Amino acid sequence: MNNIPLTATAKAHTNIALVKYWGKKEPQLIIPNTGSLSVTLNDFYTTSTVTFANDLKEDQVTIDDYQLTSEEKTRVVSFLDIVRNMSGCQLKARVTSNNHVPTAAGLASSASAFAALATASTHALGLDLSTTELSILARKGSGSACRSIYGGFVEWLAGDSDQTSYATPVTSNLSDLNLVVLNVNKNKKKIGSRHAMAESVATSPFYKEWPNVVNQDLKTVKQALLDDDFTTLGMTSELNAMRMHALTLSADPSFLYFNGTTLKIIEEVHHLRQSGIECYCTIDAGPNVKVLCQNQHLDAVIAHFTPLLGATNVTPTKMGPAVTLL
Ligand code: PMV
Repeated sequence: MNNIPLTATAKAHTNIALVKYWGKKEPQLIIPNTGSLSVTLNDFYTTSTVTFANDLKEDQVTIDDYQLTSEEKTRVVSFLDIVRNMSGCQLKARVTSNNHVPTAAGLASSASAFAALATASTHALGLDLSTTELSILARKGSGSACRSIYGGFVEWLAGDSDQTSYATPVTSNLSDLNLVVLNVNKNKKKIGSRHAMAESVATSPFYKEWPNVVNQDLKTVKQALLDDDFTTLGMTSELNAMRMHALTLSADPSFLYFNGTTLKIIEEVHHLRQSGIECYCTIDAGPNVKVLCQNQHLDAVIAHFTPLLGATNVTPTKMGPAVTLL
């Protein structure tokens, strides 16, 4: 164990899917039914320090100064078990994670958390993984985490086995993109994405169309990125998000991630577009909204939503980088 550092710190940025992942074909290994495509964000990230030590009787996990209870940390412990089995070292670990989200934006994300944890824990145990191997590992913590290994635009190739399901960077000529994160509610989401997507797969009569929707949207978005075509990118992303949420509305029992403010923002985005301020929205498994726009309209979008939500809940960001070791 002489050359093994036993401790490492990594920084991973969160990502927002423009073509969403919604449904698994293999829940244990987290193999999705479809591919997905995201953009990594610059201003939202997690740093995670992992230290393996002799004196620890069990794994300790602290997130933003809060020490997780046994129940809360099971997902992290299972993940560390995978890393321990890969390395052959059975030491317990101390994990200290901090979510860096500007002001009150409330976008703490399992994507950045598990990408940082995968990178820090494997490095601490002296495992020298390729980015593809890191992406495969991060996927087992949280599906969307496999995309946070890379910066910029990233596609998760669905695959059909552990070794064939991973993320890869997407070629883009897009020259101008801002995302304005609108924080509507920073309380924990009511229905976790894991359970919610399983319900949609099992009970929405519309789910069978979802793979066709995603395949078409992936082609359209990748072409839009090559063509520097913001309009097609925005329109396709917004429609893909709405169609994902249609799968929750059409599940039995039906459920909804939007609240009243979310609906108001969607309407406002439509109004802004009609008045010549080109912007589009996307929404994940919660009420918060991300608005896509170009530089020429950024000030107008921020000015429009600030009175409604307050300045601390309106956070502009740009594309962010890949995971790094600190
Ligand atoms: O990786 P999870 O289990 O947090 O699921 C992510 C689900 C969405 O954010 C709604 C879509 C996506 O592709 O990120």
